[in-house]
Amino acid sequence: MNDVTAMPQSAVVVGGTSDLAFAVLEELAQRRLRTVLLAGRDRTSLDRVAVRLRSLGVSDVVTHVHDVCDLDGARALADAALAALGQVDLVLVAAGALGSSSLDALDARAVAETVTTNFTGPAAVVAELAKVLRAQGSGRIVVLSSVAAVRARRANFVYGASKAGLDAYCQGLGDALVGSGVTVVVVRPGFVRTAMTASLPSQPFAARPADVGRAVVDGLSRGAETIWVPGALRPVFALLRIAPRSLWRKLPQ
Ligand SMILES: NC(=O)c1ccc[n+]([C@@H]2O[C@H](COP(=O)([O-])OP(=O)(O)OC[C@H]3O[C@@H](n4cnc5c(N)ncnc54)[C@H](OP(=O)(O)O)[C@@H]3O)[C@@H](O)[C@H]2O)c1
Repeated sequence: MNDVTAMPQSAVVVGGTSDLAFAVLEELAQRRLRTVLLAGRDRTSLDRVAVRLRSLGVSDVVTHVHDVCDLDGARALADAALAALGQVDLVLVAAGALGSSSLDALDARAVAETVTTNFTGPAAVVAELAKVLRAQGSGRIVVLSSVAAVRARRANFVYGASKAGLDAYCQGLGDALVGSGVTVVVVRPGFVRTAMTASLPSQPFAARPADVGRAVVDGLSRGAETIWVPGALRPVFALLRIAPRSLWRKLPQ
């Protein structure tokens, strides 16, 4: 049950080994978070995260092996979340992969894998978990989208397109859920140094994982529907979104 400060006490994390998810959980552990189900592909990595979480005072941590590309596994994940948590206050969706947008590497399988990892898989999981939250009449779904969703860049257009799909899906779902007691929060970070971006050069307006953690928790306490990290990226992307394509494609990628 969310406490009086609207902070969740139980959470299911899809992409349970994500650095950004952990930053959010670290913040929530300082509030009232006590029970977590970590879902991800690799049990050993999940167990490592579970140990770190317990050391932060999250007393009940369970793990569930789930690859978001396994669409049939979405229902089993929702069942496992309900069984482990009883009441699901928060669903945090962090699974994602940059994939490749190199023209040489672009083929049917590569595109399908990136789109399934970033869009179809998370959307399927959210659909199943939304049913659980609707039945409870409460809960929040926080989804890590990206500023890349706002306008596809030539350097990573497959990733950007898949995040755009997820972002639009979550906005529409949030609107459809009005009145159900369930809300959907879309988070749009810019560049953050994590495992995903370890090999990439930094970008303007770069944030740290802790900035994302704080911004998400601040957004939850305000009842925000969209969270930009850092906040300055909101006006920046309002302009970049409408910049002429001839200019957009010349910007550093
Ligand atoms: N870092 C940034 O600059 C940035 C900016 C904007 C948005 N984001 C988004 O934030 C989210 C978290 O990213 P991060 O920065 O924390 O990177 P990360 O630490 O690499 O986390 C990515 C997570 O996605 C999981 N994942 C990948 N493919 C999966 C699959 N098929 N099934 C289940 N899980 C899968 C990874 O699990 P494994 O351990 O199994 O690989 C990992 O837990 C992603 O959705 C990313 O797109 C990141």
